[in-house]
Amino acid sequence: MHLPNYSDARRREDKDYKRVDFEFSEEIKNKYKGKTFFLKTYGCQMNEHDSENIEALLMTLGFSKVDDYEEADLVLLNTCSIRENAHNKAFGMLGRLKHLKEQKKDLIIGLCGCMAQEASVVEEIMQKYKFVNFVFGTHNLYQLPEIIDKAVSESKQQIEVFSKEGDLVEGLPVVRANNYKAYVNIIYGCNKFCTYCIVPYTRGRERSRVKEDILKEIDELISSGYKEVTLLGQNVNAYGKDLYEDYTLANLLEDIAKKDIPRVRFMTSHPWDFTDSMVEVIGKYQNIMPSVHLPVQSGSSRILKLMGRRYTKESYLELFNKIKKTVPGVAISTDIIVGFPGETEEDFLETLDLVEKCKYDNAFTFIFSPREGTPACKLKDDVSLEEKENRLQRLNTVVNKYFLENNKKLEGRVVPVLVEGLSEKNDMYFGYTDTNKLINFFVDRKIEVGDIVNVKVTSAKTWSLDGELVE
Ligand code: SAH
Ligand code: SF4
Ligand code: F3S
Repeated sequence: MHLPNYSDARRREDKDYKRVDFEFSEEIKNKYKGKTFFLKTYGCQMNEHDSENIEALLMTLGFSKVDDYEEADLVLLNTCSIRENAHNKAFGMLGRLKHLKEQKKDLIIGLCGCMAQEASVVEEIMQKYKFVNFVFGTHNLYQLPEIIDKAVSESKQQIEVFSKEGDLVEGLPVVRANNYKAYVNIIYGCNKFCTYCIVPYTRGRERSRVKEDILKEIDELISSGYKEVTLLGQNVNAYGKDLYEDYTLANLLEDIAKKDIPRVRFMTSHPWDFTDSMVEVIGKYQNIMPSVHLPVQSGSSRILKLMGRRYTKESYLELFNKIKKTVPGVAISTDIIVGFPGETEEDFLETLDLVEKCKYDNAFTFIFSPREGTPACKLKDDVSLEEKENRLQRLNTVVNKYFLENNKKLEGRVVPVLVEGLSEKNDMYFGYTDTNKLINFFVDRKIEVGDIVNVKVTSAKTWSLDGELVE
């Protein structure tokens, strides 16, 4: 048994970690043939991609997938800790599973992902959720086959959570959710320690994958017909810093862009180490999509300092404008937190002012959620919930106004779209533009999912576009 603790998770030692190849132990391959699993994923793209590995590991064990948790022999929750509501959702699901297990004694229940890295969560599971058969952490994913096998064969609850990252495991099997768009991890973990954020504790220190492994994965995706790759990391700009003297995200992006892949995206990039060479590379290559997620969090330099974000409103705007100027037609999106401890009306007005200046194409807006163990959790929080909700609403009104305004500018224009499928009513196709906007469109000839087609925008809404296929 390994239990999580934050003091280990907080440590950033400059020691080497090994790159090891994953091996699936032969004795348990297909051992669970005939059994079914249900996997529920909460949280970010990183978790979604982990779930693609989890699915493949479960299938190698012999499990097959079902879409209804009540029918499954094994239910696994891949959880997220970022805000309280993500926590509550997972615990709500555990409550429902408790009832199910009362009727179905053999049901196997597991929990993994970021919540598994939290000592208080694991303690609660050990005390109040004894029906949970196993818990494993984000650094233990590759041990899943053995952990499940042990949970089934022994009637004891299995808890395997390393607080510190171990080796960097390559070659995990994967079942991708989409046949044309793929996530590719380039860096794990985060060293930024923004004061409100739990991710550096749940995902460990920044560890880059060796560039040859990444480029090989992309070559394989290209030969399997993939059209788009999204390079993933909590902070992709830090790519390579732990491995190389002079090979950065800009170099990696360039090496990938030179390959025969129509669309390259990356996320998330922190404004702090977004270099000029990155901006130039994004502007230079047609297949690096003109779409940048640049989380600002707040428009008040005073709050940004308290958040530990390492930039000011002014330096953010400078970077923002440089990207707009260098990358033709770029769409920039962001994340914003309102109600950080001590945020005054004046601070909030700075955020609104920044939004008025940046006119984002998309924005994810949140109310600050205190996360146990983070520095911001200890700050005095004297803004009432009512006030926070009011600020969120005022912010959303402004950001929505600009989503629509930006989309309206596309009316009458022809945009490239990667076709994803037919809409629910079966009368239109849908897909995403180069700037990552959802578009529904009519066609007058046969097209295939996975094609990249030209679509004329006929009308704009706040969260999507409508269009028609052109030659
Ligand atoms: N690595 C990314 C962010 C990942 S988390 C980055 O630094 O840009 C996604 C978003 O969740 C963050 O950008 C932030 O806006 C929000 N978030 C993180 N912690 C939060 C908290 N404690 N309360 C509210 N929102 C939070
Ligand atoms: Fe969290 Fe900041 Fe790291 Fe993003 S950069 S994951 S917000 S600590
Ligand atoms: Fe959530 Fe963990 Fe991602 S906390 S946002 S699932 S890194």
